[in-house]
Amino acid sequence: DPADMAQMPGMSMVPIKGTVRPAAVLTPFTDAMPRLADAVPTATTADADYYTINVQQSTAAIAPGALTSILSYGGGFIGPTIRATRNRRVVAKFTNSLTESVVVHLHGGHTPAASDGFPTDEIVAGGTKVNTYPNTQRAATLWYHDHLHMMEAPHVYQGLHGMYIIRDPWEDGLRLPSGRYDVPILLRDAYLNDDNSLLYDPFLDWTVVLANGKPRPYFPVAPRKYRFRFLNGSNHRAFSLTLSDGRPVVQIASDGGLLAAPVSTASIEISSAERAEVVIDFSGCAHGTQLFLQDATLGQVLRFDVTESCGADLSQVPAQLAASLPPLPAANRTRSIELSLTPDGNYFPINGQIFDPDRVDSRIALGSTEIWTITDVSGWEHNFHLHLVQFRILDVNGLAPDPTQRGWKDTVVIPKNGVVRIQASFTDYPGKYVYHCHLLEHASYTGMMATMVVA
Ligand code: C2O
Ligand code: CU
Repeated sequence: DPADMAQMPGMSMVPIKGTVRPAAVLTPFTDAMPRLADAVPTATTADADYYTINVQQSTAAIAPGALTSILSYGGGFIGPTIRATRNRRVVAKFTNSLTESVVVHLHGGHTPAASDGFPTDEIVAGGTKVNTYPNTQRAATLWYHDHLHMMEAPHVYQGLHGMYIIRDPWEDGLRLPSGRYDVPILLRDAYLNDDNSLLYDPFLDWTVVLANGKPRPYFPVAPRKYRFRFLNGSNHRAFSLTLSDGRPVVQIASDGGLLAAPVSTASIEISSAERAEVVIDFSGCAHGTQLFLQDATLGQVLRFDVTESCGADLSQVPAQLAASLPPLPAANRTRSIELSLTPDGNYFPINGQIFDPDRVDSRIALGSTEIWTITDVSGWEHNFHLHLVQFRILDVNGLAPDPTQRGWKDTVVIPKNGVVRIQASFTDYPGKYVYHCHLLEHASYTGMMATMVVA
């Protein structure tokens, strides 16, 4: 019930019922899609890069006309992209210039607990925290975002999101499209009032889709192959993306990095927080061709304009991508996770409990490999995100996962009334972490989060 939700502590800071203005009517394809800015290290040593990122209020030019007030990492609507290299540390100092607490989590990161961003590990107003990311994991597209207890949803919505890209020598050696032909794209939805202010109301349909912070932009491309790293940064919307000429796209990576082999797929399916990396080849397109990326629900999202020129395209998509993937199944313990709905319809408990950051829900032996059977009995679709590890999907409703879902994952859709089995190895970094539904309103307001202690 909207009235009930408005009473929840997290909701007091955002405009809610009674302040809804008409949604902005936006003319599509007026702006180019920006390329995300990279974070610039403040210092660099033999084995680490140091960054300072200020969490602050800011404004952004999202739609033509008035600026939009936002919460920001470093000033922009999307935080600066942190570029990391496998086995080289990133030491990120976050300063909080807001008048409220924040928590920073690196989604998909294999991170020691002290730097993971547990929901009560607050950086208070005016405070500072240094997170160390060891990057002892394969090349992958990750992202960082807010994780403050019961406030993830409004914080991320208002702009506390940024990308984090790990490279490694194996991937560099594949000669995938790189440099300016490797383009991270954060897609997310929003509700913009007609004065361009961002309205956070979970009960409205957010129908503005932003690509790198712009509503339905165009993006000039050259007639050659591009690598696009798509992140669904929406609070709860899933995207199903196709190209307007009906051709398949080649997916090369998912949440945790490269797939074993490229997969030709008719659509790019990404629920909240998931990543899909694809290669699109524009080489057959005549100069001036316009190709739309379109979502099954929201329609056109982005227009590729084949108007640039380029030299010879020496990039390739090799038939083998990942160096290796672990054997399946290989587990020494199983665990059941049940997603339900309370009879009053207000909470989605996990194994019968709503989130209590002080309680331990799952105890996991350091060094173990576990198979988790995640079952929805709530009658809703959710998605499930596990901190600390990348996992493999064994099956979905008893069937082998889609080929695009057979690599490393940290977030997986749990179909309504469905069952998904995943396998994860807890090899290092003991401590307390969370797992939760990544539909952020479920995580923030309906208790859909739990704790695990690895020891
Ligand atoms: Cu993307 Cu627990 O978060
Ligand atoms: Cu959920």
